[in-house]
Amino acid sequence: MATQRRFHFWLSLSLLLILVLSLTACGAAASAPAASAEKEKPAPTEAPAVKEEAPAAPTEEAAAPAEAAAEKPAEGAAANLTPEGPATGKLEVFSWWTSGGEAAALDALFKAYNASNPAAEIVNATVAGGGGSAARAVLQTRLAGGTPPDTWQVHPGHELLDQYVAADFVQPVTDIYQEQGLFDVMPKALTDLMSKDGEVYQVTVGVHRGNGFWYNQKLLEQNGVTVGDKMGVDEFFEIADKLQAAGVTPLCVGDSGIWATAELFENTLLGVLGPEKYLGLWNGSVKFDSPEVKKAMEVYGKMLDYQNDDHSALSWDQAVKALIEGKCAFNSMGDWAYGEFVNAKLKDNVDFGWVSHPGTAGSFVIVADGFVLAKGAPNEVGTKNWLRVMGSKEAQEAFNPLKGSICARTDCDRAKFGPYHNWSMDSFAQDALVPTVVHGSAAPADFQQALNDAVTVFVVDKNVDALATALAQAAQASGFSQ
Ligand code: GAL
Repeated sequence: MATQRRFHFWLSLSLLLILVLSLTACGAAASAPAASAEKEKPAPTEAPAVKEEAPAAPTEEAAAPAEAAAEKPAEGAAANLTPEGPATGKLEVFSWWTSGGEAAALDALFKAYNASNPAAEIVNATVAGGGGSAARAVLQTRLAGGTPPDTWQVHPGHELLDQYVAADFVQPVTDIYQEQGLFDVMPKALTDLMSKDGEVYQVTVGVHRGNGFWYNQKLLEQNGVTVGDKMGVDEFFEIADKLQAAGVTPLCVGDSGIWATAELFENTLLGVLGPEKYLGLWNGSVKFDSPEVKKAMEVYGKMLDYQNDDHSALSWDQAVKALIEGKCAFNSMGDWAYGEFVNAKLKDNVDFGWVSHPGTAGSFVIVADGFVLAKGAPNEVGTKNWLRVMGSKEAQEAFNPLKGSICARTDCDRAKFGPYHNWSMDSFAQDALVPTVVHGSAAPADFQQALNDAVTVFVVDKNVDALATALAQAAQASGFSQ
């Protein structure tokens, strides 16, 4: 049953992407027939494999053999991360990983790169702004001007395939997948989201769970609040009322970058609609102005009634800091928030806890981070070595515990990860896997922008009908809803 459900989601998402790929290739959105699109793309729908291939999560019983295997390279994985020789010269790595937790995790990647490329020099090109809100515009300017960084941070799905592959800014990395045995250790369903016409364009280093709901454990304990592991929307509102009555701000939000409240909205859509209907938003079968979606918008509006007054002055990581300091209780955020807890030396299930965003237990919103090889990369050998390192077990096991994400590889050693990561690996293995729109995977960039714009207005006016109409129109304009 669970396998069927997971297959259904990936099938639907794959079909959505196939359609988009085909439309992009044809350059004529309205006229491309989906049927011919299916022929062009090599069999991404052979995805029942998700269940077999995807468990980034061996069972606890399986942990011992995994530990033993850690001594030697995983089957199919290459031991040599520098077959063209160690790189020299500068390597410019472009990302938006500037918060405390993000920067610490990025540094672990730099160290892993320098371990096999000791003479190479990393140029850490970051543009602050969570979710890439400022970075992507800077990157586009550089790409348009013909001065690309060697490699940059990217999400699979629309962001990668529309903005960089279709626009001809990146080179395939299929040969690196073959040489390093990555096809054997990366879930096929993920690789398909990074592929076009049989070529792969991204090496993924970690998979974030977007629908986290974090809390200050001590603050809840002090207020006699316990949280059910499958907390629903009504349960949250009861808790929120109780906290408010005790003078505690229930919800921490930092939406100086509007994407952060758009993420609260995305998670609430999933929580109220459930995964099948949520997925229907991105294939046009569920309309944004339907009564059930308006209900989700009302719930989102009600959640905003419980947020901190200074939300628009705080960035996402400042909101996590406010939670840590006990200024507010809960934060709806992808598990890069975990990186902030770790960076502050806090302990899982002692200082902070987590559940799924209300109503979303049983779903895993995928926010996968990877890197690309620029067309015209100034240091091509260096970039290839960087990507080899990104795909390696060692780098993924060093990076992900600090970042909050789980390995993109399926053979990471669970013993190297703490309680939260093991919980997230279980979720990835068992739950409905659904894409994020806020982080570029589920819908084209123009819809993502329209969503941010509409949410910016809604946060102030709470007008459900206006939000519904704006999104329904944007979905039509983007071509995924009639
Ligand atoms: C996401 C990205 C994460 C994290 C987050 C906040 O788009 O995938 O790695 O960096 O933004 O900046």
